[in-house]
Amino acid sequence: MDAEIIEKCLELVAERAGDPAPSVFQRLFAENPEVEALFVRDTAGLVRGEMMAVTLEALLDCATGDSYAVGLVEIERVNHVGLGVAPEVFDTFFRVVMTVFREILGDEWTPAMDAAWRRVLAKFPHALS
Ligand code: HEM
Repeated sequence: MDAEIIEKCLELVAERAGDPAPSVFQRLFAENPEVEALFVRDTAGLVRGEMMAVTLEALLDCATGDSYAVGLVEIERVNHVGLGVAPEVFDTFFRVVMTVFREILGDEWTPAMDAAWRRVLAKFPHALS
């Protein structure tokens, strides 16, 4: 079951690296420098932590086959335009999350995890391109 595999993956990431949010956002900002300015007031990283948490929750819901969560992400894409976040940043963010987690886990990243993440991200066709 993809949701269980991804949940296990999140646990392992937390054990190996603690909170992955700083590494994920560092990578996102390297790829999309304009996004960093949107978090300029977020000096303590609370908003970034919240965005990471809601994103993981949404991806986990998507892994259960819950089409509600896919719809929620599509709605948030549109809502976030008003916050200055371009819709395609969501795809970049999802891909960056997977890449950073794969790097953190190294040899512990299994083919089953890779397949589960790819199936979830495939619900957002641009996330894997
Ligand atoms: C399923 C995914 C997501 C959900 C459910 C979500 C939800 C939210 C909510 C409820 C807010 C507060 C709304 C408001 O201030 O009007 C917010 C703000 C924000 N989100 Fe997200 N978000 C998601 C993904 C993302 C992603 C991928 C990014 C970019 C990396 C992002 C960047 C932001 C920014 C910059 C703000 C404004 C922060 C501020 O006002 O200081 N969000 N989001």
